[in-house]
Amino acid sequence: MESHLKQLKDKALEEIKKITSSEELKKIETKYLGRKGELTEALKKLKDLAVEEKPKMGQLANEIKLEVEGFLNKVKFEFQERTEEKAGHVLDITLPGIKKSVGHLHPITLIQQQVVEIFSKMGFLVWEGPEVESDYYNFKSLNIPESHPARDMQDTFYLKDHADWVMRTHTSNQQVWALEKYGAPLRAIFPGRVFRSEATDASHAAPFYQLEGLMVGKDISVANLIAVMRSLLKEVFKRDVKVRLRPGYFPFVEPGFELDMNCLICGGEGCKVCKFGGWVETMPCGLVHPQVLEYAGLDTKEYSGFAFGLGLTRLAMMKYGIDDVRLNFSDDLRFLEQF
Ligand code: PHE
Repeated sequence: MESHLKQLKDKALEEIKKITSSEELKKIETKYLGRKGELTEALKKLKDLAVEEKPKMGQLANEIKLEVEGFLNKVKFEFQERTEEKAGHVLDITLPGIKKSVGHLHPITLIQQQVVEIFSKMGFLVWEGPEVESDYYNFKSLNIPESHPARDMQDTFYLKDHADWVMRTHTSNQQVWALEKYGAPLRAIFPGRVFRSEATDASHAAPFYQLEGLMVGKDISVANLIAVMRSLLKEVFKRDVKVRLRPGYFPFVEPGFELDMNCLICGGEGCKVCKFGGWVETMPCGLVHPQVLEYAGLDTKEYSGFAFGLGLTRLAMMKYGIDDVRLNFSDDLRFLEQF
């Protein structure tokens, strides 16, 4: 047994010395140390030895096994080093380690959280609705019947094989939903992602974020609407922002307005975000159309309200000075890490 083991060792070491490729190395490793390898088999035979021989042989066999394994590993390591060197990876233990970076929130999420907080303080309920919506809540309940030209205002993604379902084109889909669920009086905001089939440019993207606001109660007027909008912008920008209100048309508000804010990217001088006009459309708004209140089952003599649709993506751009909407979706860390 002893001489057999020693022979095996010499043979193995001899063969390992001659190895020239990692394939060969694998072969030799299996040949001696594999499940049915020569050394493994020899070790298995130890159990048949006489009791007084066992300890001595056992020790010898283990030493031989360790020596062969050690030598194989050394050669393996050399091979590895050589391939790494070839690939240009030289182990340099003086290099600094790889730092784990901690993620952070996206600018649109940041602005959404901020706006949600501002409205929460004013007593508004926050409700995120579904992104896939029925034709009824996205259009019909908002006074936009089928074949109404207003449907062309928003290029809609319809669901394949489900003509009655759409990717919501706006967060206004929540208006009648919320009034049905909670009744009036109601103060609520609906933040979320909306979808339009639009060509992408510096200020348009197919998915974008809105935050809808709805306040319904007794004697709610345009004065309440303006007061709430002013407080909001003042809180977001921490200063008075110049705004202008001009008439705007949306089938679900009457009267309807467009609230524009002075472009903070260029200070009103004109840039690609404000399309060189100095003003950015920030908030379409108006008083809830009686037809919408009726769809929600409310008495229009008793109740009135205002609604607005805040463009969160654009607001984030104004707040952080982002001059191209595409940056928001670009995955570019140089951009994202600034927030
Ligand atoms: N839903 C409208 C849009 O996305 C915006 C809007 C909301 C207008 C609320 C008026 C009132 O274009």
